[in-house]
Amino acid sequence: MSKKLKLGVFGLGSVGQGFYELLDQSKNPNLEIKKIVIKNPTKTRTIESSIFSTTPTDILDDPEIDIVVELIDDATIALEILKQSLQRRKPVVTANKKMLAGNLEEIYWLQKKYETPVLYEGAVCGSIPIIRNLEMHYAYDRLESFEGIFNGSTNYILTKMIDEKINYDKALDQAQKLGFAESDPTLDVKGYDAKYKLAITIAHSFGCFVKPDHMLNIGIDKISAHDIRYAKRQGCAIKLIAKAEKIGNKIFGIVAPTLVPLENPLASVKNEFNAINLVGASTGLQMLTGKGAGSLPTGLVVLADVASLLAEFKYSYPKVIPGNPVTFEKDALINVHVSFVTPGAIHPTDFEEFTGGYQGEDAHFMTGWMRIKKLEEWVDRDDLSIMVNDDTHFKVYEPKKEREFSLA
Ligand code: HSE
Repeated sequence: MSKKLKLGVFGLGSVGQGFYELLDQSKNPNLEIKKIVIKNPTKTRTIESSIFSTTPTDILDDPEIDIVVELIDDATIALEILKQSLQRRKPVVTANKKMLAGNLEEIYWLQKKYETPVLYEGAVCGSIPIIRNLEMHYAYDRLESFEGIFNGSTNYILTKMIDEKINYDKALDQAQKLGFAESDPTLDVKGYDAKYKLAITIAHSFGCFVKPDHMLNIGIDKISAHDIRYAKRQGCAIKLIAKAEKIGNKIFGIVAPTLVPLENPLASVKNEFNAINLVGASTGLQMLTGKGAGSLPTGLVVLADVASLLAEFKYSYPKVIPGNPVTFEKDALINVHVSFVTPGAIHPTDFEEFTGGYQGEDAHFMTGWMRIKKLEEWVDRDDLSIMVNDDTHFKVYEPKKEREFSLA
């Protein structure tokens, strides 16, 4: 690749602006933005207007543009931009987690086919260099599990609700105003955004590709004042946790509000900060933390990806190896705490292993091991609030043996 790189940028939203600002400040003589394709040309901007276009081919078909930086919102259009860029042998830097998670296996093969890299550190956990660490530092460690806070907006909302007693709607409004939330914030609060990041992290940790639709995500939108009081009494924080675990050759994963004991360092990760606890066979437990959302933290990571193309960096996917027997599986049990208002809303028999419950004047809960498949039936029920108990692992589901009757 030539020493001086010309960039074509798609999108100038929160991350795009952070990226532009930081590149401008860097005064790097080897990186220059030639064109920025935007959706809305009438918006007032401070940048000189000749750099803007609304025509994607102004970037894609410009032979002078070496690198495509894709920072738009729409996953379908982003995938098309990525494919067309790779076909033209233009490396792509993107932060579009939805697009990546839904198509990662195809994107892996396209990079090989066109011998052109795609880098996407900004797609997972904002400023934390997690993908790069999985690529390099953990490449030779056998990872056993990871769990983390993968969404800045929900961590911000939970911090404001629990520590500062600000109500949910106001906290969400603040997260939007600060540029943390997605343009459709249901992606944040219902756990989809964290699930996209989970799918990408699973591929780099365990070498298996999983479609996000195949994983369960439970949001923070049903957490009640009773849940918050219960968590405090138990010495726990409530965090939206994305976690995955390898049991034999099976990977299990989920995104859910989780009762995190205060001794777990994840409990003290606040506001828009993200964190990940990784457990490797050689390394044991390691934690990475940093800002998970925002214009500059994410813009910086995008800039770092672009700059590393100057050094011809690419992902090698060290865990994706031919004949890798590891697959994502759904049929596990997980230990949950389910609270509800109407008596009789759920029953102990709904659990594979019922471990206890409480019936009060105005709140009830039950705890125990449940099949993820059963939880999927409950996830859209407005009368139930589901939280995972964090100090437990997944258990592979084994059907109870039918009692055998003998007529003899
Ligand atoms: N909406 C995302 C978050 C932005 O809140 O984490 C960063 O990916």
